[in-house]
Amino acid sequence: MDRWIGKVAIVTGASSGIGATAVKALATAGTVVIGLARRAERVLELKKSVPPEVAHRIHSHRCDVTSEQSIVDAFALIDHQFGGVDVLINNAGVSKLTCTLLTAGNGADLRTVLDTNVMGLVLCSREAFQSMKRRSIDGHIVNINSILGHKYIGFPNLNIYGASKYAVTAITETLRNDLRNEGTRVKVTSISPGIVRTEMVPEGDQFQDTPMLEADDVVGAILYALGTPPHVQVHEVIIKPVGEMN
Ligand SMILES: NC(=O)c1ccc[n+]([C@@H]2O[C@H](COP(=O)([O-])OP(=O)(O)OC[C@H]3O[C@@H](n4cnc5c(N)ncnc54)[C@H](OP(=O)(O)O)[C@@H]3O)[C@@H](O)[C@H]2O)c1
Repeated sequence: MDRWIGKVAIVTGASSGIGATAVKALATAGTVVIGLARRAERVLELKKSVPPEVAHRIHSHRCDVTSEQSIVDAFALIDHQFGGVDVLINNAGVSKLTCTLLTAGNGADLRTVLDTNVMGLVLCSREAFQSMKRRSIDGHIVNINSILGHKYIGFPNLNIYGASKYAVTAITETLRNDLRNEGTRVKVTSISPGIVRTEMVPEGDQFQDTPMLEADDVVGAILYALGTPPHVQVHEVIIKPVGEMN
């Protein structure tokens, strides 16, 4: 991770779960981190749980990744205030467990999932790349995918979430090709966890006996991918809790 000390990392979806844990780990490793979320105030709260010398590397900015203007404005501000972005962790994601694909009136929920998990990730990647290109930086984009991006699993009411993560798998490889065709050495990595204990997973009996990963387990994989030497690119990491059935 030494090559990223003092460099700038953006983490989307930084207000809870994997994103919040990634913010603290990256700042602890010496990176200047800007956590983006709609609840930006929750990112600032994270500063209280780390030593002061780490806390001063944590920043936050309100950004709704379903809005292209919100993304463009956030990256422009970060370019202005911090000089640009070197690492992007595309982590923001939602599931809307309220409907199936066939439920009447489900359009807004399905669009929210696609706008967040797919278009948000694509537009943040574009803005990060433009920042890296302007400064000739060989940066790194990490996409938080899912095992559901590689295999259909029949959980109830996941509706379009699995399709959004299959899109992340295809988009990661498309980005890799585009980055190569641009003549850059910017890396792109997909990290695909099984079930992780975060606010995304509903509480209750349903998952009582289900083995789960912790956010730290996923962040360990992020740090591993970022920590590889410049000539090594981790394409895909699949991580499951021991005992997971799927
Ligand atoms: N938990 C799992 O079992 C699991 C398994 C595999 C993959 N994943 C993936 O891991 C990633 C992180 O999820 P998590 O489990 O850590 O869930 P989480 O605790 O619910 O966190 C989701 C994050 O996404 C942000 N977000 C949602 N909509 C947003 C929007 N429109 N604009 C900006 N930020 C937005 C939320 O921030 P605000 O609400 O403050 O905006 C929050 O910080 C997601 O991509 C998810 O698909 C999760």
